[in-house]
Amino acid sequence: MSKTTALVLAAGKGTRMRSRLAKVLHPLCGRPMVGWVLTACADAGLDPVVVVGHQADAVREALGGVPTVLQSEQRGTGHAVQCAVSALPREGTLVVLAGDTPRLRGETLSALVARHEETGARCTVLTMPCSPEDAYGRIVRDADGGVLRIVEAANATPEELAITEANSGTYAFDAAWLIDEVLPTLKPHPPKDELYLTDAIEAAAGQLEALRHPDAGELMGVNDRQALHEAECALQERINADWRQAGVSIRGPAYIDAEVELAEDVTLHPGVVLRGATRIASGCVVYSYSVLESAVLEQDARVGPFARLREGTVVGRDARIGNFVETKKAILGEGVKAGHLSYLGDAEIGADTNIGAGTITCNYDGYAKHKTSIGERAFIGSNTALVAPVSVGDDTLVGAGSTITQSVPDDALAIGRGRQKVFEGRATDMKKKLKERSGK
Ligand code: UD1
Ligand code: CA
Repeated sequence: MSKTTALVLAAGKGTRMRSRLAKVLHPLCGRPMVGWVLTACADAGLDPVVVVGHQADAVREALGGVPTVLQSEQRGTGHAVQCAVSALPREGTLVVLAGDTPRLRGETLSALVARHEETGARCTVLTMPCSPEDAYGRIVRDADGGVLRIVEAANATPEELAITEANSGTYAFDAAWLIDEVLPTLKPHPPKDELYLTDAIEAAAGQLEALRHPDAGELMGVNDRQALHEAECALQERINADWRQAGVSIRGPAYIDAEVELAEDVTLHPGVVLRGATRIASGCVVYSYSVLESAVLEQDARVGPFARLREGTVVGRDARIGNFVETKKAILGEGVKAGHLSYLGDAEIGADTNIGAGTITCNYDGYAKHKTSIGERAFIGSNTALVAPVSVGDDTLVGAGSTITQSVPDDALAIGRGRQKVFEGRATDMKKKLKERSGK
């Protein structure tokens, strides 16, 4: 049996976001808004088709390979579905939902489809509780509780605005009925002459079901930045709660992107930020205010506080990255220690090597990036500048304050700095001169 299709409406500009970026591309926990909706579709086993329009190319790119149809002019949710007809199946159930409901869960979609197919209705609309100030369409029922129609907030009377049940914008339709009998009949509404999909609901009266969902938060539509923020906070809570269930200690606020992967017995201290495709193995501890961007930590590594690990960083087993250390494309072997104040970029560092405080890989010459490689069990003295391309061998010792511009062979001692001069008995004399010069 073929899968049920879900048509995701994502062509709108989202004017109230006041943004250069199309609304459905705004990220929540590192995933674009429409990506959350597609994840819910996938969780429910639905096959998505996305209606794109505003910034269509950018939206298509963010969707990867998901099939799309173009609504070149955005003339309302009903018009968006009309534009998609050629890409839709003409039998069975068709789910239609909006690209701006990022908190919607797959299980809720599954329940909607199940109810729709159980009753054999022409349309089943998912509804939610609302308050008078909400901008959602209101569900108008008759005296017996049957759903009659949906009235948009902008067109509603004060009595209708007082209705406490709203349209979530998520529906299951009898595909043939919607496509053949309803879409061709939609009429434009003032003030913008849009075609409302909600009119299809009225057309189904008598064979119309409503599934009440108690959690309005999960079904919220994001139309402005405040709602975006509220949705992101809620999704972050969901992500963190799921990781706690999976054996991760999250000891305070933590910002964890949707694509991050954490193993059991990872501990995150307050204020940790984990972005992109960060992967953390078991036993690792990330201390406060560390930011990891697509970084990999192997077992029992410890990072921070105040560390910044950028993309392409791999921290080996039992390795230790301390405060104010920045890494980028840096592969650090097992047991490496970089405790303080370093920049390690385009670097490969062998097992058990110690990187002294203030060590910098000078990877950029103003035109190109160059690589630094350091062997195993090396000891790099504090405040060393490694001018790449350069390599430092196994078991080496580099004196503090060195500027290393030539490769250092295995087991060598390398010192590259000015020699210290000492002038005995000259301090008092010098201080006197300096004082006179200052006029104090
Ligand atoms: C819509 C519903 C409203 C419901 C609310 C739930 C209609 C007329 N109204 O209102 O009853 O309570 O969702 O959140 O459907 N879109 C297109 N093409 C268009 C217009 C919109 O693809 O021409 C897309 C948008 O990108 C968006 C979705 O459809 O993802 C919903 O559009 P939006 O303008 O946000 O509708 P609401 O006013 O929120
Ligand atoms: Ca909306």
